[in-house]
Amino acid sequence: MDEGAFDHWHSEQLVLCRDDERGLRAVIAIDDTTLGPGLGGVRCVRYPSDAAAITEAQRLAAAMTLKNAFADLPFGGAKSVILAPEPGVDRRALMERFGQFVLRTGGAYLPGVDMGTTVEDLRVMGETGADVSCNEEDPSPWTALGVAAAVRAAVEHVDHREGIAGARVLIQGAGHVGAALAHDLAADGAEIVLADINADRARRVAEEVGGVTIPADEVIGAACDVFAPCSVAKVITPETVDRLRCRMIAGAANDTLLDARCAELLARRGIAYVPDFVSNAGGVIQIHSLRAGHDEERLRAEVLRIGLRTREVLEAAAHSGMTPLHVATERVRRILADARSAAAGARSSGAARRDDRSERALTHA
Ligand SMILES: NC(=O)c1ccc[n+]([C@@H]2O[C@H](COP(=O)([O-])OP(=O)(O)OC[C@H]3O[C@@H](n4cnc5c(N)ncnc54)[C@H](O)[C@@H]3O)[C@@H](O)[C@H]2O)c1
Repeated sequence: MDEGAFDHWHSEQLVLCRDDERGLRAVIAIDDTTLGPGLGGVRCVRYPSDAAAITEAQRLAAAMTLKNAFADLPFGGAKSVILAPEPGVDRRALMERFGQFVLRTGGAYLPGVDMGTTVEDLRVMGETGADVSCNEEDPSPWTALGVAAAVRAAVEHVDHREGIAGARVLIQGAGHVGAALAHDLAADGAEIVLADINADRARRVAEEVGGVTIPADEVIGAACDVFAPCSVAKVITPETVDRLRCRMIAGAANDTLLDARCAELLARRGIAYVPDFVSNAGGVIQIHSLRAGHDEERLRAEVLRIGLRTREVLEAAAHSGMTPLHVATERVRRILADARSAAAGARSSGAARRDDRSERALTHA
């Protein structure tokens, strides 16, 4: 990763956390709190360097701002990474300490699960008094439901048809989201192809849904209608775009494109790309619903709206000649600009009321 290319002043707040006794090194990146506390998962993985970990937290935090705003949620964007601990470190003590650092953000950061962390880890963080999400339930099935809605909308838009029966969907990653997605789409008659570096996992899920597997290193270049990245980041690069043999891309992985240039390259090749932050918002929608006390029927309806939003983005892109990424990012820019000017308006009318009150107090004095 080219850490130098990222503007480190992008985030509203960047916190480095260190506790030698408990073996903790972590980064909390709060990208934007215009719409509310920065919601984003805690990633616990190994990084080639400290700089790479910081850049990753900031990039992913920025993506969370886009995701939460695009889904009309009252959350800003944030993300944290815990550098994978050395063997023998007490995981509970580590997560508890990290929870204390989260508490210090005063509610500006609302953590959830991400790669390398579990519902139990979040529960431990929450024991410190920090506000956390995902401490009761894994949001992955809801993320999968949202991705399935995006896949359906993409196929219906591109092929001018109803439903996805017979569409060949290649799912990269048969983990929490990929496996649930395979089940959802197979139930609608899609042909499922799975690839995972854990070949047994891919095979098991393929057997469950009547699908097939391909080796993980043959994903780019495998023929399919829809490519659904559900594992690692940045699978679409200028180099891989040329080798793709799909007509649509819609998946769960965050940060699917190496950079915005790839969106142009995909459009030039006639591949409909559903921005990752549009398709993979089911988990954050579930987090919001749980906190708001919505029932399951309402939650399901909110997650399925991802299909509607996908169609709107693809149609607007087709009409305007812009990429779907540009269309979706512009929508977020407008949402944030409106929220900032509404907040500024509220502040100035509050100040005017205060001025008025002090003037009256002086007159009566
Ligand atoms: N879980 C959620 O609710 C959620 C929400 C939004 C975004 N995401 C993103 O979706 C992706 C998948 O999340 P998950 O919760 O299913 O993760 P997971 O860890 O459960 O599954 C990931 C799977 O990908 C496989 N994998 C890793 N590298 C691979 C490669 N190079 N090729 C093929 N397979 C590979 C792993 O073996 C694993 O089975 C991640 O990028 C995550 O950030 C997840």
